[in-house]
Amino acid sequence: MSARLEKLASEALGELSGASSIDAVLQLKTRYLGRKGEVTALLKELGSLSPEERKKAGEAINTVKASLEEAFDEKAAALEAGGRAARLQKERIDITLPGRSVRPGRMHPVTQVMEEIEEIFSGLGFDVAEGPEVELDYYNFEALNLPKDHPARDMQDTFYVSDEVLLRTHTSPVQIRVMEKERPPLRVIAPGTVYRRDSDITHTPMFHQVEGFMVDKGVTFSNLKGVLTHFLHSLFGDKTDIRFRTSFFPFTEPSAEVDIRCVICGGSGCRVCKGSGWIEILGAGMIRPEVFKFVKYDPEEFTGFAFGIGIERIAMLKYGMDDIRMLFENDLRFLRQF
Ligand code: DAH
Repeated sequence: MSARLEKLASEALGELSGASSIDAVLQLKTRYLGRKGEVTALLKELGSLSPEERKKAGEAINTVKASLEEAFDEKAAALEAGGRAARLQKERIDITLPGRSVRPGRMHPVTQVMEEIEEIFSGLGFDVAEGPEVELDYYNFEALNLPKDHPARDMQDTFYVSDEVLLRTHTSPVQIRVMEKERPPLRVIAPGTVYRRDSDITHTPMFHQVEGFMVDKGVTFSNLKGVLTHFLHSLFGDKTDIRFRTSFFPFTEPSAEVDIRCVICGGSGCRVCKGSGWIEILGAGMIRPEVFKFVKYDPEEFTGFAFGIGIERIAMLKYGMDDIRMLFENDLRFLRQF
């Protein structure tokens, strides 16, 4: 009996030292000391011993039982304490660390310029209109006095979706869409995305324009000059020199391109203005009677002017950028400067 007891005790202690979780300890405790446990089984055998032996063996078993119990409980307590310490260590929060700052998002420079332009024109009573980027040939070309075989279609390398459907090459089709639905007097700007098959340091296949037009009885070229001069002075400063140059667009006559004195070199000539001292900023003109006929306006009754502005161009000048592609690479180091 005492040999078996000793063996049992040393087995139990051996297994206990290998136990690595509280669950494992509790299982061992049940196995050795539980009601059907091995130590309990020894106690049950006592009945078959003589009274002397029984007393001796009983004391021995109870001593072992008590010491095992203590060992199990100690181990369980140690594991519990260790577990808590490990958890606390793992969940430790260093409240002395500085907080992580959240960087607020900001408007893309193209959006900023667009909004600034919208603001200037709403100050003059212009409404904002929008049109589809996937456009019909009819609105992008035909109704702007650019029939299918018109050589000026080559001025704009077009992405075609099908014979009659394309990605709009300019925001001018919005003129037609608005005039189709509404009658003069009209003062409208139409900002938006346009597409052309073109890519180098001053061209991207996708870029932005703001179209503008005004139609009413008696609108003249001086109105055009007045509105655009006010606009460019608001955008680049009152002192900015402006010049109107004759030009050609199929949907306007007379047509003009408008230049501002180079904001980079002040007019002495640099790389940006290619030595001329002037930078072209927009196209404009008086809307042709042919265009009015498409939208059923009587050209004898109404006249109007229109203009188209490239946004990226203006953003580049305002912020002194020399490569348009920077605007669309989404490099945060670049974008965060604006
Ligand atoms: N749509 C022209 C372009 O993309 C710009 C333009 C020129 C618009 C003259 C106009 C205009 O409304 O009158 O090059």
